[in-house]
Amino acid sequence: MADASESLTVTDNRTGQTYELPIEEGAIRASALRLIKLNDEDPGLLSYDPGYIATASCRSAITFIDGERGILRYRGYPIEELAEHSSFLEVAYLLVSGELPNDQELALWVDEIKHHTLVHENIRKFVDGFHHDAHPMGILISTVAALSTFYPDAKDIDDAAKRRLQIVRMTAKSATLAALAFRHAMGFPYVYPDNDLSYTGNFLSMMFKMAELKLKPEPALERGLDVLFMLHADHEQNCSTSAMRQVGSSRPDPYSAAAAAVAALYGPLHGGANEQVLRMLTEIARPENVAGYVARAKDGKRRLMGFGHRVYRSYDPRGRVARQVADDVFKVTGINPLLETALELERVALSDDYFLSRQLYPNVDFYTGMIYQAMGFPVDMFPVLFAIGRMPGWLAQWEENLLDEEQKINRPRQLWVGHGIRHYVPMGHRAPYAGTRLALQAASAAPPRPGR
Ligand code: SDX
Repeated sequence: MADASESLTVTDNRTGQTYELPIEEGAIRASALRLIKLNDEDPGLLSYDPGYIATASCRSAITFIDGERGILRYRGYPIEELAEHSSFLEVAYLLVSGELPNDQELALWVDEIKHHTLVHENIRKFVDGFHHDAHPMGILISTVAALSTFYPDAKDIDDAAKRRLQIVRMTAKSATLAALAFRHAMGFPYVYPDNDLSYTGNFLSMMFKMAELKLKPEPALERGLDVLFMLHADHEQNCSTSAMRQVGSSRPDPYSAAAAAVAALYGPLHGGANEQVLRMLTEIARPENVAGYVARAKDGKRRLMGFGHRVYRSYDPRGRVARQVADDVFKVTGINPLLETALELERVALSDDYFLSRQLYPNVDFYTGMIYQAMGFPVDMFPVLFAIGRMPGWLAQWEENLLDEEQKINRPRQLWVGHGIRHYVPMGHRAPYAGTRLALQAASAAPPRPGR
């Protein structure tokens, strides 16, 4: 129990009762509110927090973010240092195990990952069943879930060695599944993994290898993509990680939980934003059109995709690193013509009080889309690239949740705003055609706000 100074004294003005609520690690336990009752029949108060703006769902030691100061650290290591000195697989090891590997541990980890990049031939047949224009995120959600049917041992989630094997398999195969989705959409033959290459080099080979015997990735692009995978590797309790923990809390295999995480990432407000940034920049087309677009965003008619963040109330530190990656990649690919429009959009937005007052700064997605496009990825692959990077983070968070003795199946409560009891009405005694009534109800609902 915290000392008396670390507590809230709350008076319930309905009863005059006062309550001491301990403050621990900057939080009060919502369950303490249940003690605040009108009488013995009263179940007590709930906390109400739509969108979980001010709710901590867990205690975690994986990723630290300070939104005010634009700080992001994986297991204590600043993202800027990792982006400069580390690699995606080393960062994946760090997130999953909690420590940077020594040379032998890294060599073993890389070898394990490389030897799990293949997928069962039936997964390839499964991908063949998708329509030619199926969005690759829809394919990825489905194929990640399908992996659970190939590895029944994945249900033994209390066995540390089996958990580790699934983490290795999922980290390794996410790149293979992504490439399968792309090759299927393009009507290209599938490319098998080339274990002579790095993780990211192999992904580029599975994506882009054509008639050549071996694809030799362009080093600057391989390094640039590896850095972008690192930038996306984890981000504390974002929407998709929360989905991973939420589904993981009912204790299915990790593939089923990961499929839910990929689905959450697909949304345009989350991992789908990088795709929307490119579509937005393409719509704006030229720097001279920026002012008009920004005006529409200020009228609430548009969202500046790639701007704003629930946690960062200043520049997203990943955005700065991505900007540097853009410079390095564009030296090889040539500057993406949309960059000039993006820089003008950033300049206009960051000098406009509408955005500054709402603390809307470029986030990680603002630059990544232009980089991916310059690398030759189609726009609908952008969220898939985000998912490859985030996979180790999801898996590390899933395991941390599983091992947290305080955690149990997630089952939030609700504030009831519906009807009181109503009794069944025989067909002949009901109001006119229900469809009209339902359509009227739908029409009267508040018009959706863009990007909500
Ligand atoms: C990611 O959580 C994570 O960590 C996510 C992520 C990760 O690594 O996992 O960092 C990755 O998802 C980055 C964010 C990518 N999404 C986008 O770029 C989409 C555009 N941005 C937003 O829609 C928005 O900023 C969010 C979703 C990112 C955050 O939304 P919030 O915190 O719920 O803020 P809000 O929607 O309540 O907006 C607050 C105000 C509103 O104006 P008012 O109602 O006060 O007048 O800011 C406005 C919003 O209209 N606003 C924007 C805006 N974002 C917020 N106005 C214009 N353009 C925007 N982008």
